[in-house]
Amino acid sequence: MPASERIPAGRVMPGEETVTAGGGPAGRSAAGQVAGGRTGDGRGDGQGGGPDGQANGGGSDGAPGGVSDSGNGSADGGISARAAGRPGQLTADVLTHGELTVRGQVREASNAVLYCTITHEDVSGTCVYKPVAGERPLWDFPDGTLAQREVAAYELSRATGWDLVPTTVLRDGPYGQGMVQEWIEAAPEGAELLALVEGEEPGPGWKPVGFAEVGEGRTALLVHADDERLRRLAVLDAVINNGDRKGGHLLPADGGRLYAIDHGVTFNAEDKLRTLLWGWAGEPLTEEAREVLGRLATALEEGAPLAARLAGLITAAELAALRARVADLLRTGVHPHPGGDWPPIPWPPV
Ligand SMILES: Nc1ncnc2c1ncn2[C@@H]1O[C@H](COP(=O)(O)OP(=O)(O)OP(=O)(O)O)[C@@H](O)[C@H]1O
Ligand SMILES: [Mg+2]
Repeated sequence: MPASERIPAGRVMPGEETVTAGGGPAGRSAAGQVAGGRTGDGRGDGQGGGPDGQANGGGSDGAPGGVSDSGNGSADGGISARAAGRPGQLTADVLTHGELTVRGQVREASNAVLYCTITHEDVSGTCVYKPVAGERPLWDFPDGTLAQREVAAYELSRATGWDLVPTTVLRDGPYGQGMVQEWIEAAPEGAELLALVEGEEPGPGWKPVGFAEVGEGRTALLVHADDERLRRLAVLDAVINNGDRKGGHLLPADGGRLYAIDHGVTFNAEDKLRTLLWGWAGEPLTEEAREVLGRLATALEEGAPLAARLAGLITAAELAALRARVADLLRTGVHPHPGGDWPPIPWPPV
C-alpha cells in the first residue's frame, strides 16, 4: 500500500520522544512521557504538589523523563520485572487492596495520570492512578466522575468477555479517591493499527476512516487495520458511547492481546461517539458481536448485578441510554454510521 506514514499505536504525540517506564522498549511504549521519579509515600498527605497536574514535584531518585525502577520487586515497592511485563496479572483484588506508591506522572495528559507501583501479599506490579481531584471538569459531563466512567467501561468490557480494558477499580490513594488500572506495557512488535496513506484506496487489510488535512494543503486517507480485535472494540465503543477513541489509547501487548485505555469520556446520554474506528460503519455486526450484545442486554436488565453496579457509577438517564444503544445495535444489526457527512474523529488521531 502507498503508505505515507505509519502511526505506531501507543504513541502520545507524533514527533515527540516517547519515554518508557519500567524498562520497556522506547518508541513503541504505551508509557507516554513519565515525569518525576518521585517515590510517593502512599499516605494521603498530598505533599509534592497534589493531583492538580503538578504532582511530579520533589523527585528524589529518578532521572528526568524516567521512572525510578529497582526492577527487583524489593520491599520498597520496586517493580518486579516479571510482574510488570505480564498483562492481566493484576487482579481487582490486588488493585483494590494493594499498597500504592506513586512513582511519577505521565506528562501531556489532560488529567492527573500517576504512574505507580502496587504490592499486595506476594504480587507486585505497575498501575496507573487517576485521582478524581486531578480531573479537569468537562461541561458536558457534569455528573459523577471520570474515574467512575472508567470503571463502568471496564465493567462493560468484562461483561462482553472480550476483556479489552485493563482491570480497573475505584479506590482511595495518596491523593484521594480515584481509579486505579493495571499498567499495560506495549509489546515491542505491536501490530500497526493506524496509518495515513496517499491516494484514495486503503489497501488490502485496511479500512478507510476519512480524509485528513496533513499540512501544506495536502490530504491523506486515514486508515485502520481490518483487525478482529479492533472490530470488537468498535462495538464496545458504540455500547459505551466513547467520545475519545484515539490511536494512543490502543495498547498492543504480549501474546497478541490488545488493550484499550482512557474511558473517562463515555456513557453520555447524548450521542458522543467520536472514534477512529469507523471502518466498519454500516457493515453487519459479526455473529459473535450479536451474541455478545444479546447477553449484554440481559445483563443490563433492571435488578441484574451488572445493572446494579453501573447504577452506582453513572446516572439513571445514562443507564437508560446505554440499554437503548444495546437494543438499537441488536435491532439494526449493523455497526453505527456517523450522523453527518464527516465521521467524528479525535484529532490528532494519536
Ligand atoms: N493502563 C495504562 N497502561 C499503560 N499506559 C497508560 C495506562 N493508562 C494511561 N497510560 C498512559 O498515560 C497516558 C495518559 O493517560 P490517559 O490518556 O488515560 O489520560 P488523559 O488525562 O485522558 O490524557 P489524554 O489527554 O492523553 O487523553 C496515555 O496516553 C498512556 O500513554
Ligand atoms: Mg483522555
